[in-house]
Amino acid sequence: MPKSSHVLLGVCGGIAAYKSAELVREFQRRGAEVRVIMTRAAQEFVRPLTFASLTGHKVFTSLWDTSGGHDAAVIEHIAEAQWADVLVIAPATAHTIAKLAHGLADDFLSAAYLATTAPLVLAPAMNVNMLNHAATRANLLVLEQRGHRIVSPGSGYLACGMTGDGRLADTEAIVRASLEQANPPSDLAGETVLITAGGTREPIDPVRFLGNRSSGRMGYALAAAAERRGARVILISATTALTPPARCEFLPVETAEDMHAAVLYRLPEATVVIKAAAVADFRVRQVASTKLHRDGPLTLELEPTEDIVRSVAEHRRSGTLVIAFAAEMGMDTARAREKLRGKGADAIVLNDISREGIGFDSDRNAAVFLTDEAEVHLGESSKEEIASRILDQVPALRTHHLLAQ
Ligand SMILES: Cc1cc2nc3c(=O)[nH]c(=O)nc-3n(C[C@H](O)[C@H](O)[C@H](O)COP(=O)(O)O)c2cc1C
Repeated sequence: MPKSSHVLLGVCGGIAAYKSAELVREFQRRGAEVRVIMTRAAQEFVRPLTFASLTGHKVFTSLWDTSGGHDAAVIEHIAEAQWADVLVIAPATAHTIAKLAHGLADDFLSAAYLATTAPLVLAPAMNVNMLNHAATRANLLVLEQRGHRIVSPGSGYLACGMTGDGRLADTEAIVRASLEQANPPSDLAGETVLITAGGTREPIDPVRFLGNRSSGRMGYALAAAAERRGARVILISATTALTPPARCEFLPVETAEDMHAAVLYRLPEATVVIKAAAVADFRVRQVASTKLHRDGPLTLELEPTEDIVRSVAEHRRSGTLVIAFAAEMGMDTARAREKLRGKGADAIVLNDISREGIGFDSDRNAAVFLTDEAEVHLGESSKEEIASRILDQVPALRTHHLLAQ
């Protein structure tokens, strides 16, 4: 029987601390063994007894705890750090995030963080202004660049009465990300996944362009997830504010034409192509060579850009899978399937961009994965979670493709 994953769960002092009890149950339902560390502030919200009862194990609350007849020869935070296959901090407060980013170690949780070699998964939860504060953003970036997995908070009504980002991510997304870190799947080992991301910019004059609202987050989440699952990743990205995953091969581009050229250039190496970029459908026919002045009305003549997916489908090697994206107002699966057939792709991910808080320029998405015969509802979740669910479909798509040949 495979060894159950050892999950060391850190609970910090935020309102969402009560949701950590649900997390423990879900980890256990998936066969993991859980032990809990609580910060001093977390104990203001939930009593350690809750977690002790759920886990059947002592809850770690202090570096200096000598009660309970524990063996003085065992330094508990070191022992627990070594026991863990993954350290999960959920909810992660702004305070603890800051401590981890700076390497402070004045309590059990922060000391265990420094002492463990296990991967770290962080699920931040806090007031929207705390989350968006430059200090918190910078600390999260440091932790992300250190290779830790951040499960993005969701958006909605917060306990503080405000609405916005800062809600603890779904239990499902946290558990999945954590177990993935504890036992990284390698189902994409041997694949070279070419991913496009971001929104292209079509110049009007030397300082202006036609653009779109794509943030690039979906494509970057796919690149990070594919890399974790053992794939070699080529990320071709239009301008975004994001940092590409550490190990991927990164090609920055600007226009639809640049992206088309870059994709065709790297296509011979790809075994899977995922077209998550929002590529302009039109470009300005005559780009002005000097800055246009407001001398009266201006008419721009537009011409269609290249259809990159169709071009990829035509030029790919046999066996290369092509997954396209369709951003639609509503979940019109019939229209998306028409697009799938028209472009010669193997699958299409249909996103609903008509709803507030999901799709373009958001951390969340809602999608359906469509092939000629199948329709898999991926649900609504963080873009990281949707990325994992899309990649879950690749092995089955590969098998289907082989059988059809
Ligand atoms: C009622 C209340 C709710 C709080 N909720 C949060 C929260 O959701 N997220 C957060 O980062 N801090 C929150 N805080 C502030 C933290 O509790 C505080 O920064 C504390 O020092 C965190 O300590 P810890 O990171 O060691 O758990 C809250 C404080 C109070 C009084």
